[in-house]
Amino acid sequence: MKGIILAGGAGSRLYPASLPISKILLPVYDKPMIYYPITTLLLAGIRDILIITNASDIQNFEKVLGSGEQIGVKFSYMVQDVPRGIADSFLIAEKFINNEPCALILGDNIFHGFGFSSMLKRVGQKTQGATVFGYAVNDPHRFGVVEFDENNRAISIEEKPKNPRSNYAVTGLYFYDKNVAEYAKTLKPSQRGELEITDLNNIYLKNKQLDVEILGRGFAWLDTGTFESLLQAGNFIKSMEVNTGMKIACIEEVAWRMGYISTLELSDLAKKYNNGYGEYIEKIIQANANKLNRNAVV
Ligand code: DAU
Repeated sequence: MKGIILAGGAGSRLYPASLPISKILLPVYDKPMIYYPITTLLLAGIRDILIITNASDIQNFEKVLGSGEQIGVKFSYMVQDVPRGIADSFLIAEKFINNEPCALILGDNIFHGFGFSSMLKRVGQKTQGATVFGYAVNDPHRFGVVEFDENNRAISIEEKPKNPRSNYAVTGLYFYDKNVAEYAKTLKPSQRGELEITDLNNIYLKNKQLDVEILGRGFAWLDTGTFESLLQAGNFIKSMEVNTGMKIACIEEVAWRMGYISTLELSDLAKKYNNGYGEYIEKIIQANANKLNRNAVV
């Protein structure tokens, strides 16, 4: 399965902080925001990842992530010159997708919760239809909203409805089968001039090929769109990391636990960081050698 991270858009809600650099590269506590969606894709077993961003930001993403070889994955980069909508990703990425199943995650979406790894692993193995993730929120009118029937089957999805039919938002993580680029080509721009991801999901829904996985109450889906929510996300990550002694979305650790790099390679990566980040990586290597934390969930 292929993976796409959509990291374009002006990010103007975070100006002046995001004026010189993509908001997706701003830190969420101790690492760039993009480490979180990368982790989500890695946990789904995806190693071939396309990052779509603005022309002016590509160099910065390359500086942070390179080719991906160092963590046993492949990163490639493409430009979205105008924010034509989230579903535009599949037109830009048609060649990259190459008629394979594909996952898309928005660069500013952070997911964390118990059981997420096994959920992703299961969904990442599906080759037919589409899967989206529903999450109960206070303010559903800001999102795509999914409505369920009495058997918990999705019956409608509406983009930013004035009168939401449920409080379940559709999060910014989507899995599709090999037909996604063909379906995306049939979309027409919405009133706000975008190719809407909700319209794409509605094609799958109409074909009875859309699964909605519910992320439960214990789960965190964090928004980073405003200064307030960015700070809250950073505080959340910090308190989880301090309490557990384990990092969230340390991509080097995730790649190692997924078996993409050896312990020796991981140790070499730790040496790049003469700070707590590097020390953390050394610590997990040591714990592993001492048979501690063997089943640590990433
Ligand atoms: O966060 C989940 C929500 O994301 C879903 O519930 C909605 O159904 C979906 O439409 C989307 O909501 P927004 O319309 O509010 O997304 P926004 O325009 O904020 O874009 C999300 C991210 O994607 C943001 O970091 C900018 C980036 N983006 C957006 C567009 C439209 C691009 O890189 N290119 C684009 O063309």
